[in-house]
Amino acid sequence: MSPALPKVCIIGAGSSGIAAVKALKDRGIPFDCFEKSDRVGGNWVFGNKNGMSAAYRDLFINVSRERMQYADYPMPSSIPDFPHHTHIARYFEDYVDHFGLRESIEFETGVEHAARRADGVWEIALDTGETRLYDALLVANGHHWDQRWPEPAFPGSEDFAGVQMHAHAYVDNSIFAGRDVVVLGIGNSAMDISVESSYVARNTYLAARQGAWIIPKYIFGRPVDQLPNNPRLPFKLRQRLIHQTIKAATGSPERFGLPKPNHKFGEAHPTVSGRILDRIAHGTIQPKPNIAALEGHRVRFVDGSVVDADIVVYCTGYKITFPFFDPDFLAAPDNHIELFRRVFHPDIDGLYFIGLLQPLGAIMPLAEAQSAWVGDHLLGEYALPQPALLRKDIHDDQAAMRKRYIASKRHTIQVDYDDYLYALARERREGAERARAQGMRLPVAPRADAAAVPAG
Ligand SMILES: Cc1cc2nc3c(=O)[nH]c(=O)nc-3n(C[C@H](O)[C@H](O)[C@H](O)COP(=O)(O)OP(=O)(O)OC[C@H]3O[C@@H](n4cnc5c(N)ncnc54)[C@H](O)[C@@H]3O)c2cc1C
Ligand SMILES: NC(=O)c1ccc[n+]([C@@H]2O[C@H](COP(=O)([O-])OP(=O)(O)OC[C@H]3O[C@@H](n4cnc5c(N)ncnc54)[C@H](OP(=O)(O)O)[C@@H]3O)[C@@H](O)[C@H]2O)c1
Repeated sequence: MSPALPKVCIIGAGSSGIAAVKALKDRGIPFDCFEKSDRVGGNWVFGNKNGMSAAYRDLFINVSRERMQYADYPMPSSIPDFPHHTHIARYFEDYVDHFGLRESIEFETGVEHAARRADGVWEIALDTGETRLYDALLVANGHHWDQRWPEPAFPGSEDFAGVQMHAHAYVDNSIFAGRDVVVLGIGNSAMDISVESSYVARNTYLAARQGAWIIPKYIFGRPVDQLPNNPRLPFKLRQRLIHQTIKAATGSPERFGLPKPNHKFGEAHPTVSGRILDRIAHGTIQPKPNIAALEGHRVRFVDGSVVDADIVVYCTGYKITFPFFDPDFLAAPDNHIELFRRVFHPDIDGLYFIGLLQPLGAIMPLAEAQSAWVGDHLLGEYALPQPALLRKDIHDDQAAMRKRYIASKRHTIQVDYDDYLYALARERREGAERARAQGMRLPVAPRADAAAVPAG
């Protein structure tokens, strides 16, 4: 008889959760996966009944399909380089059916509370009223659904006569028709939403407190994220090359009236848009600096200029939130969370995070690799470094991220796509050797099945 394995709970069946489902199923690890919605795909399901999707009607991906696809399930070449959200949602449905994962997911079942008992067993309370016990917990609840509004709110926002909304609530540009619209931010939501507004609004203003390099979708006729990027070469060298290439392709943002970037390419989360400069060049989007105050029907910017405004759209990002944990157990204040390579909690055994990272590139192949890594760990085939080394790795990684990226709450979980995969493959090899030296010990004892569900 094969030895008992830890029993695992997976929270979420978005693109990260389904990769975890596959990895555990492949390895014969017992698990339950709980998904609030009635389908897989999370953010990519436009109008998802979980209420958490930020997808708008005309959302297209900004990384190319070949960089977004899972390594073991390529996207069909019949779909475009930068597909629509419907293609992406369909792809996740197909993935689940292709690998026979659907029956392993409990739909319309939310995890309300997750607590680790003193004996290490996880007590998972579901919104069905049921409580189940597990040896390990994989969190894949997504990090682009809890709206971050400007903090603190702008002076006058409580009395603003128009509409204030967050990008998460944006559906399509019909709300902008004939209106004066101010879009705040210089991330990808601000790019898409200001461009969409620019086709129907009376005026569209794009306000930003920092500059960004605008990365086109194509350079040299190829998706920009498919340009050569060898993680074995020093980052500074690659950075110089790509920085010069982007600059040659789009020029300096200040030439278009956008703020001058105070950083080089690769020191902020990439702002990708093939359309924004065009719309600015046509005069249909007017760049502005940060908002200073809202004044009745008007918005005042920090340069003293004032415009009429019916709608202000805050494209100000998202919070990393785990509503099922007690805040004193685990939280990510200001999006700060320290994990070993964005997956393993240094102090809590049997707790893993999948997809909790912001790549220069797509999340899915990284979530897939993370899932396989955790799967190996749960089988005892990968062992973590010694605690002191693990902490040093986290500390060094945090210091490097702070040094490289411009200060922002959106730059707390950054990774480089190719470098991350490369380093992870190496770490898995080293951890496999450690595991062999330790006799392939299971990282968490399988005792949840034997533990009694507490009364009440
Ligand atoms: C507008 C927008 C565009 C984006 N475009 C790209 C892109 O082009 N490329 C890219 O790589 N990334 C993009 N992203 C990032 C996005 O986070 C990822 O594409 C992807 O959705 C991450 O998948 P996930 O499974 O980690 O999270 P999600 O897609 O958010 O899925 C999380 C799942 O967990 C479930 N869940 C949450 N809490 C619970 C609970 N308590 N109990 C049970 N189930 C729960 C949810 O119902 C959901 O199904 C974009 C994000 C936004 C907001
Ligand atoms: N087409 C697509 O594929 C697509 C579309 C939309 C979003 N996305 C993805 O979704 C994720 C979220 O993107 P996002 O654009 O919504 O958020 P984001 O990347 O976190 O960007 C937030 C922006 O708001 C600014 N901001 C935050 N607080 C502010 C304040 N108080 N005052 C002024 N500016 C403020 C930030 O500036 P600072 O940098 O100065 O903090 C930043 O420019 C990203 O991964 C993105 O790539 C993809």
